[in-house]
Amino acid sequence: MNQERNPNGMNRRQFLQTGAGFAASAMFLGPGGARSFAAPDAGTQENSIPLVTLNNGLQMPRLGLGTMTLNGHVGERCVADAISLGYRLIDTAMIYANEKSVGAGIKQSGIKREELFITSKLWKADMGYEPAKKGFQTSIDKLGTDYLDLYLIHRPSGGDWKGSWKAMEELHHAGKIKAIGMSNADFAQLDELIAGGGVKPAIHQIETHAFFQEGRSLEYLKQHGIQMEAWAPFAEGRHGLFTNATLATIGKKYNKTIAQVSLRWHYQRGIIAIPRSSQKAHIAENLNIFDFSLDNSDMASISTLDLNTTQFPEWS
Ligand SMILES: NC(=O)c1ccc[n+]([C@@H]2O[C@H](COP(=O)([O-])OP(=O)(O)OC[C@H]3O[C@@H](n4cnc5c(N)ncnc54)[C@H](OP(=O)(O)O)[C@@H]3O)[C@@H](O)[C@H]2O)c1
Repeated sequence: MNQERNPNGMNRRQFLQTGAGFAASAMFLGPGGARSFAAPDAGTQENSIPLVTLNNGLQMPRLGLGTMTLNGHVGERCVADAISLGYRLIDTAMIYANEKSVGAGIKQSGIKREELFITSKLWKADMGYEPAKKGFQTSIDKLGTDYLDLYLIHRPSGGDWKGSWKAMEELHHAGKIKAIGMSNADFAQLDELIAGGGVKPAIHQIETHAFFQEGRSLEYLKQHGIQMEAWAPFAEGRHGLFTNATLATIGKKYNKTIAQVSLRWHYQRGIIAIPRSSQKAHIAENLNIFDFSLDNSDMASISTLDLNTTQFPEWS
């Protein structure tokens, strides 16, 4: 596996640079809770993707496809493949420069829009009330949809992020965004939104994987009824995640891969994961996590892997 490979031939650094100089870069249910989306090609009923009910009543799949770096025809193919396999949650962002490809993949899939759950994110360059409204419109135009299921402030570090939030609240009330949330926010920013009396974030999307487990964030978010969502659920393979001995040993017990053990661990912690893959076999493998359970000793072993630090210092 080439964890740094970009299907367009770019490595991570080049991808970050092509981001036009940008720094690019519930309710918690136990396993098996809630209604599920069907996974038509995935074989067994066990592989249906369970849903979680967010704090505004909206239901969201607990596993989805990440699309960062999946651009052009590759992005279109991966999104169409994922949907054909049973994925319904697709995560994109303005800064990934692939919203058109994601939209084309959705169209190719033939699945009705209302059966999908599409997330996009507002980038720093569009921070503020008016820019956020324009940024949202540009994203949905590129995606070829007239609403989003979830829209997040991608990196609220600096700029008028509260103006953006106000615009997103209005779009939410107008029915253009079913749920709004944050990504990469700090506790003070979340506290401010919670205390503000406006729309409470439904989701917080943050870096979370075996080496950066974010236990404190998980507790805080649970306490406030905000659903946690993991970006880089495999740490993009950094720190040797795909050859980690602890994860491999657990995988052998259940005849599962390290990727599947990792995703099952996120799931059992009540965290939505959006693994990215450019390979149909991996996209299918990542869905095949609903027919086994990690036991307490497995969960305890994985908790010892926490380094409690980001694996993406270039984004901090
Ligand atoms: N909000 C934010 O700031 C933020 C930041 C980063 C990412 N995100 C979102 O989170 C998504 C996921 O994070 P990510 O893309 O950074 O990384 P990731 O999902 O942790 O890892 C992706 C890597 O894992 C490999 N992989 C996937 N499935 C595999 C399997 N079954 N076996 C072996 N290797 C496998 C992929 O390679 P192959 O292609 O070869 O399968 C790829 O190299 C992104 O795509 C994006 O949508 C959000």
